[in-house]
Amino acid sequence: MEKSIKEKRKQAIDVMVDRVRCCLTEGVDESSLELAKHELMRLCEKKELFPREEFPTPSTERPELFFHVYADPVQEYSLYVYSALPGQTYRPHNHGNSWAIIAAIEGREIHSLYRQTGHSRAEWVTDITVQPGTAVSLLPGRLHAIRSAGDCPLMHLHFYGKAFEIQGERVEFDVKTGQAYHLTLDERHLSYIIDARH
Ligand SMILES: [Fe+2]
Repeated sequence: MEKSIKEKRKQAIDVMVDRVRCCLTEGVDESSLELAKHELMRLCEKKELFPREEFPTPSTERPELFFHVYADPVQEYSLYVYSALPGQTYRPHNHGNSWAIIAAIEGREIHSLYRQTGHSRAEWVTDITVQPGTAVSLLPGRLHAIRSAGDCPLMHLHFYGKAFEIQGERVEFDVKTGQAYHLTLDERHLSYIIDARH
């Protein structure tokens, strides 16, 4: 019998995770994470496995949705499908003690990479456009800010070394005021995540 899209997606995700695990066995550094990034990009090419019926474009009341589609038993590899209306922005932040890779199935956003230059200051380094065929990877502790580009709704894959719940304390920067905010994602922040693992 022909496998369902969900089964095919699960299989493709398992293959991607196994390959990424292989890339990172010797440790996480810029070159190994770069290899891992290409594995996530390969998964994004299988657009037919991420239909809008299962990952709908959100409404204006709730303009972004995170579908949690994969976590290993200790949540050390976690994959989310991010569906958002154009216009979402995030100030510079890190993902605590987790690495992050973001790749695009549909839509375009700009990831600005920042470097922490003092206790509460962050300095812009470069911009990377994430759109179909490109992606961005961040080592643990590295900073990015996000702003959307274009008017196509987004469907991006966010892959983390740790699920949001266990990323630990993250730091966000207000570049204008020069203030840093230390926070741990709690239930309030995580309520917008939809468990789509089963
Ligand atoms: Fe982020």
